[in-house]
Amino acid sequence: MYVKKVFNKIGLLTSGGDAPGMNAAIRSVVRTCVFHNIIPVGISKGYDGLIKGKMTEMDARSVKGIINKGGTILKTARSKDFRKKSGRKKAFESLKDNNLDGLIVIGGDGTFTGGLIFNEEFDFPVIGVPATIDNDIFGTSHTIGFDSATNTVVEAIDKIRDTASSHNRLFFIEVMGRDAGHIALNSGVAAGAEEILIPEENLGLDRLIQSLKRSEKTGKSSSIVVVAEGDKTGENVFQLKEYVEKHLSDYEARVAVLGHMQRGGAPTCFDRVLASRLGVKAVESMMEGEGCSMVGLNNKDITLTPFKNAIKGITKINTELLKVSDIMSI
Ligand code: F6P
Repeated sequence: MYVKKVFNKIGLLTSGGDAPGMNAAIRSVVRTCVFHNIIPVGISKGYDGLIKGKMTEMDARSVKGIINKGGTILKTARSKDFRKKSGRKKAFESLKDNNLDGLIVIGGDGTFTGGLIFNEEFDFPVIGVPATIDNDIFGTSHTIGFDSATNTVVEAIDKIRDTASSHNRLFFIEVMGRDAGHIALNSGVAAGAEEILIPEENLGLDRLIQSLKRSEKTGKSSSIVVVAEGDKTGENVFQLKEYVEKHLSDYEARVAVLGHMQRGGAPTCFDRVLASRLGVKAVESMMEGEGCSMVGLNNKDITLTPFKNAIKGITKINTELLKVSDIMSI
């Protein structure tokens, strides 16, 4: 906790993979700053832009018409230079040269790791706003972008199901999530997948085959298996498909890798509201003297979690959803 002080200028940046709702968060941070007579300064291309001093003063109108837009108007990057002490030193100098008193970083755990180290090295206030489609940040039940991405996935699976059932095919659909299975589990339940493979629960190849055989016996002529990209049941989704085709010759199988389309598109209502709430809390908690924490949603409240905990903590998957999926796919 810092001594409560008057802020004149606060910088903001987006970093890591883009997520739908990042623009809504930018809008919220900018307008909350203006509301409190603080000048918001937009930093372009994440920590790389900070190192290079790429920044512009913003005002309430700079963020008009963006709440419904995917991507990030500030651009984003995964900075290699900020991982080095020399890069961070340049970033600090650039903040000082531009008279910034605080920094709000919108992104995922890599972004917050950078924020934590930077705060410890230069005693500079940094507040994080969690935005990643993966929902893998401890200290918030939802990250900005997760709800939009899962809805995009559900829409895609619904379409794939049409063709799967027309051809009596088995589809393996790979979804993003890095090492976490949140997108797979939630979208799989919502789209009525027959099986959901996630890294947090190793189903194993034998059980997958048994389960698909059971589906066939109960009269299913097509099936959807949602595979999280971090799942280790097979070497990868293509090898998984080959293995299953070998052991279940009745099925004609196909693979669909949804890829980066999951990160695009307009944010959902949930993500827009979440981003708006988190942005307000980020600015106001910085004004209150916080300087090394992340804002997040816990139950219905917006709370703060120290960067240290947010980075080290592990998000648990909802095991109840696994049970629901098993029952629904009989
Ligand atoms: O963290 C978001 C994410 O989309 C992950 O789900 C995925 O593993 C990764 O980023 C892909 O990164 P890139 O856009 O660099 O290929």
